[in-house]
Amino acid sequence: MDRISKKIQEVKKNSNNSEEMMALVHRALLHYKNKTTDQAKSIMTMPIEAYINEERYLKEKDRIYKKLPLALCLSKEVPENQTYRAMNVIDTPVLITRGQDSKVRAFLNVCRHRGSKICEEGSGKTRVFSCPYHAWVYNHKGELTGLYGEETFGKIDREKFGLIELECEENAGFIWVILTPGKELNITSWLGDFGPELESLNLKDWYIFDQRELQGPGWKVALDGYLEAYHHNQLHGKTVGKHTVGNLLVLDTYGPHQRLTFGRKSLGSLEETPESEWQPLENIRLIHSGFPNLSVSGVLGDHCLVSQIFPGNTPYTTTTRQTILSAKKPKTKEEIAYSKNFSDMVLQAVKDEDYKIGMEIQSNIKKLGDNNFVYGKNEPAVQNYHNWIKRFMKSQGTAW
Ligand code: FES
Ligand SMILES: [Fe+2]
Repeated sequence: MDRISKKIQEVKKNSNNSEEMMALVHRALLHYKNKTTDQAKSIMTMPIEAYINEERYLKEKDRIYKKLPLALCLSKEVPENQTYRAMNVIDTPVLITRGQDSKVRAFLNVCRHRGSKICEEGSGKTRVFSCPYHAWVYNHKGELTGLYGEETFGKIDREKFGLIELECEENAGFIWVILTPGKELNITSWLGDFGPELESLNLKDWYIFDQRELQGPGWKVALDGYLEAYHHNQLHGKTVGKHTVGNLLVLDTYGPHQRLTFGRKSLGSLEETPESEWQPLENIRLIHSGFPNLSVSGVLGDHCLVSQIFPGNTPYTTTTRQTILSAKKPKTKEEIAYSKNFSDMVLQAVKDEDYKIGMEIQSNIKKLGDNNFVYGKNEPAVQNYHNWIKRFMKSQGTAW
């Protein structure tokens, strides 16, 4: 058994109430008692310029979003053979398919005849993809299998006119793709020990209750909000903050990826409860943050929110895809109402609270001119995130 499979087994064993979860509860409880949190070594500053410079933004988008693996959809979105999911990612039309062989593949959603989009955005099941312009036909492997009016069109070597493939792998309930054709993808090495942690959530077995897209502030303003508990009591007092202890964070890092553990309000009651009766996931909340734009947030035990944040045309805009998952398909009226309630609450928290304030930040930010933003010692995940951006930029040339 290789190292990663071993780790997966270990994490699976552990997450069934689990030493690992118990250890997280201990760490969170200690902070709760002492009114402390995990911290970075020092305060960090970041020039406002890093949030708004257009030239820098284009380079970052190119070197980070176009060159690194992105979780483009959940495995559940292409659940069976011959299903597909078509989407526009930043400026790239992508078609993800699951073939007769159950294998997932990704292509540029662009016809090789004269460039029409071959499949409308969305998802579904189809035997083949027929281009709406002149009806060239492709299969799920991207092969050109039909050429309308070939006798009049003339013979071409069909093998040379398949869809352009993007590197793609399925792992931990997600489908990972690199948007630049020809760029090699090795997902186990990219995720490292974060992969088994994600896998342990078992998202491929969860039910997609709802999915929607939200317009939000710029990439960094939006992402910063997913990476700290410092704002929870103030900003989210009426929504998710009702369940969360503000300014308490337990942080684990896996290269550029991070797992944030927040305390739930019930955490304090554990001081009076024998350890044998602790239910770890009733008292903590996990957020798995995959660099650069994935957040899987288990707000309440049997429901979770998957957020994918995609940069827009300018440093001031993003589109976020929110997917609401429930561990099982809700069936009774009460179960449906419960899932709906969760879905409405996270929509409100993100749209009317996080992104509302984010939009205000975005409109004020230029006024701060040459000044710096400052990330506190109690915001270590935000600090790590920006340090990794710097690192990826540096590894591919100049600092930005
Ligand atoms: S552009 Fe697709 S068949 Fe002509
Ligand atoms: Fe928030």
